[in-house]
Amino acid sequence: MTLPFSQSCENNKEPILSVLRRQFSRSGDVLEIAGGTGQHAVYFAAQLPHLHWQSSDVPDSLATLEPRIALAALPNLPAPLPFDVTQARLNLAPVDYVFSANSLHIMPAAAVTHFFRHLRTLLKPGGTLCVYGPFKYGGTFTTDSNAQFDQWLKQRNPESGIRDFETVVSLANEAGMSLCEDNAMPANNQLLVFTKLV
Ligand SMILES: C[S@@+](CC[C@H](N)C(=O)[O-])C[C@H]1O[C@@H](n2cnc3c(N)ncnc32)[C@H](O)[C@@H]1O
Repeated sequence: MTLPFSQSCENNKEPILSVLRRQFSRSGDVLEIAGGTGQHAVYFAAQLPHLHWQSSDVPDSLATLEPRIALAALPNLPAPLPFDVTQARLNLAPVDYVFSANSLHIMPAAAVTHFFRHLRTLLKPGGTLCVYGPFKYGGTFTTDSNAQFDQWLKQRNPESGIRDFETVVSLANEAGMSLCEDNAMPANNQLLVFTKLV
């Protein structure tokens, strides 16, 4: 069976893992939002067996996500859940950790607002959010290639686009989280880490 494959996931999984080892160090439940091909879910669940990794994606993308997770058959990686952040609350008890990669620049800006609103209830007090992807700072792209990537995204969908770091931090603050790390990652990406206060 040919599984859906993302080369960028293969390239970024090791650098992301090095941050998750530190930030998701205690045993607990993880919710992954926008799981994509499942490469991250399978790799991180295998490398971090102290975590229960619950992946999710919009209903239309579950057929992409499910096969790799089913094939892996890991004890800490259940079948993915349907979850569109623009829809009603996910029926899931609050989790210790939330992870999402390369999702905020794909979903429309209004959905990014919903993403953070959900975390008010989905993430436990004291919990940690790790968000990976490209961001703008002070309205400026970090590199020319990110500016070109933003144009390419907007040609595909005018509502997509690289998000402002400051907007994301502000939305997180409104949801009771504070930024604790901004990790520069390979290929002009960042891994932002937030802690939920209440
Ligand atoms: C570029 S892919 C990233 C997938 C994977 N996380 C990765 O790093 O390769 C963007 C993902 O965002 C998801 N997505 C788009 N809109 C969404 C929404 N409203 N709620 C949840 N996920 C959404 C898509 O289904 C897709 O899986």
